[in-house]
This record gives sequence, C-alpha cells and structure tokens, in this order.
Amino acid sequence: MALDLKTSHKPIRDYYSSLEEFHKIGVKHEGAVRSAFQRLLEHCCRKMGWTFVGEHRIPLGGRRSVVVDGGMLDLFKIPQAYWEAKDSQDDLSKEVQSKLQHGYPRDNIVFQEPTRAILWQSGRAICDEDITRPDALVYVVQELFSFRTEIQRDWEIAVEDFKKSIPAAATRFVELIESEQRENARFRKAFDAFGEVCRSAINPNLSDQAIEEMLVQHLLTERILRKVFQNPDFTSRNIIAREIEKVIEALVSRKFNRDEFLQPLDRFYVALEKRAEDLGDYHQKQTFLNTVYEKFFQGFAVKVADTHGIVYTPQPIVNFMVKSVEEILKREFGKSLSDEGVHIIDPFVGTGNFITRIMREIKATALPYKYANELHCNEVMLLPYYIASMNIEHEYYERTGEYKPFEGICLVDTFELAEDKQLSFMFTEENTERVEKLRKTKLFVIIGNPPYNAWQVNENDNNKNRKYRTMDRRVADTYSKDGTATNKSALSDPYVKAIRWASDKILENGEGIVAFVSNHSFVHDYAFDGLRKHVGSDFNLLYLIDLGGNVRKNPKISGTTHNVFGIKVGVSVNVLVRSTARGNRAEILYSRVDDFCKKEQRFKFLDSFRALADAKWQEITPNSDHTWLVQGLESDFRHMLTIGVRRPEAGSSAAVFRLFSPGLQTNRDAWAYNFDVRVLENSMGKTIETYNQQVSTWAGQAAKGNLDDFVLGDEARISWSSSLKSFLRQGVRVTFDRRRITKAYYRPFCQTNLYVDRHFVHRPGIWEQMFPVEAMESKNRVICVKGPGGDKPFVVLMTNGIMDVSMVGFGTNAQCFPFYIFQATEPNRRENITDWAVEQFSTAVSSSVDKWQVFHYVYGLLHSPEYRAKYEANLKRELPRIPLPKNKEYFEAFASAGERLADLHVNYESQPEYRLEMVETPGQPLDWRVRKMKLTKDKTAIVYNDFLTLVGVPPEVFEYRLGNRSALEWIIDRYQVRTDKRSGIVNDPNRPDDPQYIVKLIGKIITVSLETVKIVKSLPPL
Ligand SMILES: C[S@@+](CC[C@H](N)C(=O)[O-])C[C@H]1O[C@@H](n2cnc3c(N)ncnc32)[C@H](O)[C@@H]1O
Repeated sequence: MALDLKTSHKPIRDYYSSLEEFHKIGVKHEGAVRSAFQRLLEHCCRKMGWTFVGEHRIPLGGRRSVVVDGGMLDLFKIPQAYWEAKDSQDDLSKEVQSKLQHGYPRDNIVFQEPTRAILWQSGRAICDEDITRPDALVYVVQELFSFRTEIQRDWEIAVEDFKKSIPAAATRFVELIESEQRENARFRKAFDAFGEVCRSAINPNLSDQAIEEMLVQHLLTERILRKVFQNPDFTSRNIIAREIEKVIEALVSRKFNRDEFLQPLDRFYVALEKRAEDLGDYHQKQTFLNTVYEKFFQGFAVKVADTHGIVYTPQPIVNFMVKSVEEILKREFGKSLSDEGVHIIDPFVGTGNFITRIMREIKATALPYKYANELHCNEVMLLPYYIASMNIEHEYYERTGEYKPFEGICLVDTFELAEDKQLSFMFTEENTERVEKLRKTKLFVIIGNPPYNAWQVNENDNNKNRKYRTMDRRVADTYSKDGTATNKSALSDPYVKAIRWASDKILENGEGIVAFVSNHSFVHDYAFDGLRKHVGSDFNLLYLIDLGGNVRKNPKISGTTHNVFGIKVGVSVNVLVRSTARGNRAEILYSRVDDFCKKEQRFKFLDSFRALADAKWQEITPNSDHTWLVQGLESDFRHMLTIGVRRPEAGSSAAVFRLFSPGLQTNRDAWAYNFDVRVLENSMGKTIETYNQQVSTWAGQAAKGNLDDFVLGDEARISWSSSLKSFLRQGVRVTFDRRRITKAYYRPFCQTNLYVDRHFVHRPGIWEQMFPVEAMESKNRVICVKGPGGDKPFVVLMTNGIMDVSMVGFGTNAQCFPFYIFQATEPNRRENITDWAVEQFSTAVSSSVDKWQVFHYVYGLLHSPEYRAKYEANLKRELPRIPLPKNKEYFEAFASAGERLADLHVNYESQPEYRLEMVETPGQPLDWRVRKMKLTKDKTAIVYNDFLTLVGVPPEVFEYRLGNRSALEWIIDRYQVRTDKRSGIVNDPNRPDDPQYIVKLIGKIITVSLETVKIVKSLPPL
C-alpha cells in the first residue's frame, strides 16, 4: 500500500501552520516543535494502518537498547520506520553520526529538525532535504513510508499467502486423514487412540473433526516453532508434541510425505524463516507468533475462534493488570508476586503474555523457585499451548540465562478441573500429573483474559459452548438462581463460568485476587443481577475499569477504531479482591473511559497509571436489586407494582399478572412461518420427512458417536435446534399434520401462518395456555412488551393470537401477559390478573374495579410518553412496573384510553382505510404485487411497485413507533418477498385470493397510527 500524501493535503498545511504558531510565540526547543512532525507521522500511520509508538525502545542485544522518538509499527507490530527529532540549534549531520554510533537503526530512519531531514535507508543516507519546502517534506515522508527491504516485501506477500493457503492446505490434510482412516489400519489405530485421549483429557464430546483440527494445528505450525524460533528439539522436548508426533508418524507411514504435503506452503515458510533471521530480537518474533495465533484460527477454524475466544490480549492491558495485582498484593496482603506461597495462574493462557509479564515483575532471585513451583497456566488448544510454552521458556532463559522446561503449563480445559471425579488420563503421564497437582493447589492470584463469545444463532453451525456438569450447575445454583432476569442465555457465556470458577478457587483459598479482562456486560446488564449479588459477597474490594467499546449500545463508535479488542462487545478490566482483613461490605470502585476515545487513547489511559489511585474512581453502592450502575434509573420505579414474577412461589401473588411468558421461539423461522400455506406445508412436510429419516438412521447405528457430528448439515433440508436434536436422540418420530397450521403474529401488525408443533418450536412459551387449539377463536387478549436487556426502546402491543418472541422487534425477547389462562382442569379458563392487584387498585381509587379495567389501565399506561421517557433506563433493564392510579378519574382515563387502543390494535384489519392518492406509472400494466416497497426520502409517499405509488402519507403517522420503526415502516419492511439464504425458502406476502390486501393494509395501519397518536396525546399526565 502506498501513502497518498500531497503538498496540498491538510496534514502538511497543519504542520507548517503549527511551526508558524511556535515561531510567533518564540518556542524553538525540540520537545515543543517536534509535536508538529509527530502529528504528521501519526496521520500517515493511520492511513497505512500502522501504529505510531512514541519513545520506542529498540533492544540491541544483552542489556543494551536505544530509544528513538518514534517507531512506526505495521499491522504485525513489526517496526517499519523510525524517527528521531533534533533541535534546530543542533548540527544535524553530527547528531546523526553520533546516534548511529550508539546503535540507532540504519534501515529506515528519518533524522529531523524543523528545517532539515536526513533519511537513512539500507545502511546509507539517501537524502538530505530542506523541509521548509512542502514538496521536499512530502518526498521524505513518502520515502519513509514506502521503504521495504526485500525480506519485508517477501514477508508481506508470504503473510497474504499464508492467510490464503491455510484453509486449502488444512482441508487437504483433513481429506487425507479421512482417506487414511479408511485405508491405513495403523493410522486408524493411532488416530482412535489419540481421539480417546483427547476426549478424556479435553472434552468427552470432542468431535472427530476437532481432533483432526488438532493434528492440522500441529502439522502446520511445528515447522514455524522449530525453525523460526530455532528450537529444533521442540517436538521431542514438549510433552504433548511428542505424543502427537506419534500419530503423525503413523499417518506418514504409508504413502504420505510430510514435506510434499507442506510444499504448497513452502514459499510462506521460507519467507518467514528468512524474515526470522532478520528479526534478531525474540520479542519481535513473539509478536509475529501472536499474530499467527489469531490469524490461524480466524482463517481456518472460525467456530473455534468464536467459542474459545481466540484473541490476543493487548499488552497495555496485560501491563496494567499485572502492575495492579502487584500493588494490591502489597497493600492489602503485605505480599508480592515474588513471594513464596503466592500461587499464580492464568487459566486461559493463549500465547502466555500474562505469565511472561508476571515473570518480568518477579525478582530475578525469586524467579527460579516461582517458575518451578508457583506459576501455573492452562490452555485447551494445541497451537496456543505450544506458543505459550515457548514464550514462557524463552522469558525464563532471558531472565536467568538458563533453558529450563516450564512444568507449570497444563493442556487441559480449566472448567474440567472443577469436576468432582477421578482424573482420566490427560494426554500424557506428565500432563496428567501436572493437572492432578494443580487441582490440589491453593491459588492466590488468578489472572487472564477468559474467552467470551456471543451464543451461536443457528444450531446447524454447531459451534455452541460445551456443557460442563459441575461448572454449569455452579452457575445455575448461584448466579442464575439468585437472578431475576427472564432470559438466562447470557449466563451461558464462558466468561461467566470463568468468574464462577475463579471465585470458587479464591473462596477455597480463603483470600486472594482475581484479575480478568472480559466482556463488561456483567457490570451493566440486567441479566447479570445474580452474578453481581454473588461477586459482591464473594469479594470485598472490587476495581472495575470500564474500557467501553460496546458498539451495539453506542452505534456511533466503531469496533475497529474504538474497541480495545477491535470487537463490538464492551470490555472491562476487573480486579476482584477477597481479603479476610476487610469487612463483609464490598467496596466497589468504578472508573470509565469516555466511549468516544479511540483505541490508542484507551491504551494510553491504561499506560498512564502508575498506581490504582491515579484513576478517578466512583464508589458504587449497589441497590437492593444488585444494580451497580444506577445512572438514569429512577428509584421510585421500584415502589410500583410488579407486573409479573418469573417464578411465582407457591401462594405468592404480589404482582399484577399471575403468569407471563416469552413469545414462541421456533429457532427455524424460515421453515415454520410463511405467508403462503402451501409453501409452509411443503417445507415443513419436507423437513419432517428428513428428520424422521435421521431418526431411523440414528436408531439403526450400533455404535452411536457424537450426535452433533451425525446430524445432516444440509440447510436446504433441515434446520436443527438443540431441542430437535434431543427428540432425535430419544428416537421421537413426528407426523406432519396440516391442522397444526395456525395464524400467528410475527412482527407488529404482521400476521402470518405458523406450523405450531412442540417438536419444531424450540421454545413454545405458554402459547397452549394462552391459545389452546380449541379456544383459538376465544376472546383472549395478550399484552406483549419488550423484554429486559439490550438497548432497544420500550415497545408494547396487544394481540389476540400466538405471537413470536420477536413480535415487537428482532432481539426484543417479547414477554406476553395474557388476560386469560386456559387449563385442562376446571375451571378451564382463569383470569390472569391477580385478586391482589384488583385489591390494590380498588383501595387506590376507593371504588371497586374489575379485571378488564386493570388490564386496559396497564395497556393505556404503558403508552404514556411521560412514563416511557421518565423510566427509559429502568425499562431497558427490567420489565415495566405499574404505578397505582392517583384517583378514580385518573384510573378511568387510562383504562378507557387503554381499551380504545386495545380495540384499535387487535382489530387493525377492520379499521377504515385512510385514503392515499394512488399514482399510476404511465405505460405500466395494472399490478398489485409487492416485491419491496419503499418510502420516498421525504416520507410523504410509498413506492408500492413499478406500477403504483401511494401519495399523501400524513407525517403524524411516524409518531406511532414500535421500537426503532413506526407501525407503517414495519408493514413496509415485513411485506416484501424474501428468500432465506440458508434454506432457499421463499416467503411471499402477496395474496392471490386478495391481491389488494397489502394496499388496503397500508390504509388501515395509517388509520391505526393516527388514532393511536391522538389517544396517546390525550393521556393524562403521570
Ligand atoms: C482470550 S484468549 C487469551 C489470550 C491471551 N491472554 C493472549 O493474549 O495470548 C483465551 C484463551 O483461552 C483458551 N481457552 C478457552 N477456553 C478454555 C478453557 N475452558 N480452558 C483452558 N483454556 C481455554 C483459548 O484457546 C484461548 O487461547
């Protein structure tokens, strides 16, 4: 990539005007004027995707190093250019000579003072320019940024090649393994034995594919480890690599030649090896290896990258955490990382950067003992396990001058350590012994970057987080049990398990420190109230540094520019301390970085800490709901009536509604919903047939392997959910039944057909109690609201039919509060408003009220703009709460408005049509079919299709909003022809029996919107 820089560009103009400013005020010294040049270089770095590092240290071997004013690091954090600034009073030529004699780099460095720049490249001065001339300045800077050594050029090509070649080479290797499995008995035996060991050591459900991936990781990377790191004995010395080599040997025993196989990658390896020779300094190689770590998984095993959170932790975060832990150890415990008895672990070691940084913090005299006895780490993937082993052993070598294998690393799944069972064989005897020893070790410091991921959306992707008997139970018995959130899926994230695991280890030890950098949602989100409750009692001093970067909550920022990991999920550094010398009350200290700070500023913020006291801390006092951050939350919300209790204990009815549930969730919407009944019959018939075939095949298999591996991944034939897999496992056969097709609300004012069958609906909610088949035509009504969590605005909508979990918008986790509940026993229909609620309302208005009135009051109130604005933050966190009416008049005003709104919304299809002008396109034939409608820019007309435009949309229509869209925009969005990418199923909203349905619906929804806006405007103040 070439740098695009011209004399007319703003950064150049800015440079000269800054110099002029300095000149005017008489500032001449280097420290001040160099900032203008630095800004110019920083700008160029940003353009190139590089990083500018001020005061960049260059090691010269041994203990020597030099510090240049600026280092410019490429994407792989390899320095490409350097800058050294001098005063205008200095004789620049002399200064250059002196710096070079002191060991300054000669390959690409610019020596600069305000009027002059000397550029050295490949060991010689290539220009000496008067940079008071803009063209000369641009020339020097461009030369600086375009310089590449031959090796560097090879390197860049090689890295590109690497990214491209890895998937193909890996696939070839997998094919080879599979063919050898069929034809090579020796290999089959070795592979099966290896698979057994992996399953007992890592995960009993490990698929053959995962084991194949492991061999691929070994095969493709061992050469890098041997050659780039000049560690030829790596495979014979590393206890795990040795074992895997045996399998590889069996693999190559017949016809397979390792060198031949790796030949397509030769160019990459050779360039890499050449480059490695060039990189004398181990730390640079190490940075390269960290890149390989991320890129390997991102390019080849994307699912693993997601479920295992394979991402490198930026060094400023690691530095900050290690320094903080040392400070707390001293201050709170009178100990240090160097002290005997302080066992330290990184349970998710990755490339080993926490442990190596800790080793640098430990006194040299203490290091041999700590290294041999009290430093521990775990890793579950092979490649990082190798990398971490090497990095840690090298760090030891650098510190002590002695090479000593690191015995504190285990190849193990950290969460397996919690299992209360006899350890099985863990790869090798040494590894088993290490794990056994670790289980018995009392840990004082737990530090690291646990994996965190978003849960997978589609079961066919088959990359969900694995289950753990003990750890899942621990989370369920504590964080989940003591939480009030309705949606628990957030608690299945591995970082939650990591906090649970680490807390348990510290509790076991009695005191200690957990320092994790993780997703920050546990600090903010409602779903983690149970976790906050426990963390607040398991620890008594908590430092939470919120590094922000949550792109979903703040769409104005970007993951790449603002987030420290370049991701969309917000991040925090959390240091949790349990000290017996402190009282029970937890001191919770919170500090945050401005959300608009760039990534580099966030790093600077961390780098700037010398001690924790340097941060601006805000002390958090959790409220009784275990909310930590109460900004924007209205405290009177808590005193209102609870709308519903998730798990009503027997006899408890202190809520407005007895029962509520999320809307129905199919996990296969493209299959289970369709506007066209025939398409629905066809697709569900086909998928049920496929499913039944799978049941037969599975039942017929004598040796049942891993079900996830067995199931058919063909997305044009079936869409799996974990519940459907579980029916398959039980051998449940399903019959297609046309009568199961019913109407359902999929999105606001969008009724469609649903195939409702408990096997093919992943989470049915309580639809059978709201709309039992025989009472489908009943007069039941359901108030549907957006569920807690997320950042979407509050929504409420009433329906009279089954509704989807996304009925009020995707990701809103709609919660449904029906008026009636149906049951098989007498009385088979019960009102769902509690007697307790009626009593509360009657007392409040000093008059008798009925349950329909209460129901309508709730609906009316939830439309109040004042209520929604005042409690906006509360409504994002939890279900709505209902204020009691001030008096009868107030109650009746809301109840009657609610009743009118209910009638409008439930009966939207019978509302009169608002007359829009129908403008026909001349020359186009009559056509009522919709493909994709759109609003004109000024929102006054709807382009219905090529033939028709509907003109005259009144602006007030857009005031009736349901979440991020107005009611009319929901219609425009939902009523379009869609083709599902995965299954190929087409969903066409046009109705052959009623071609003008959509045009009429638009008119009706405009009426509904205008009337709703009128009613809402007439609501009394709160
Ligand atoms: C976020 S990365 C750690 C990054 C590390 N600090 C670095 O910068 O290199 C998480 C690491 O934990 C490993 N891991 C994930 N789940 C694990 C588990 N249950 N037990 C042990 N290691 C695990 C992953 O393979 C990954 O290498």
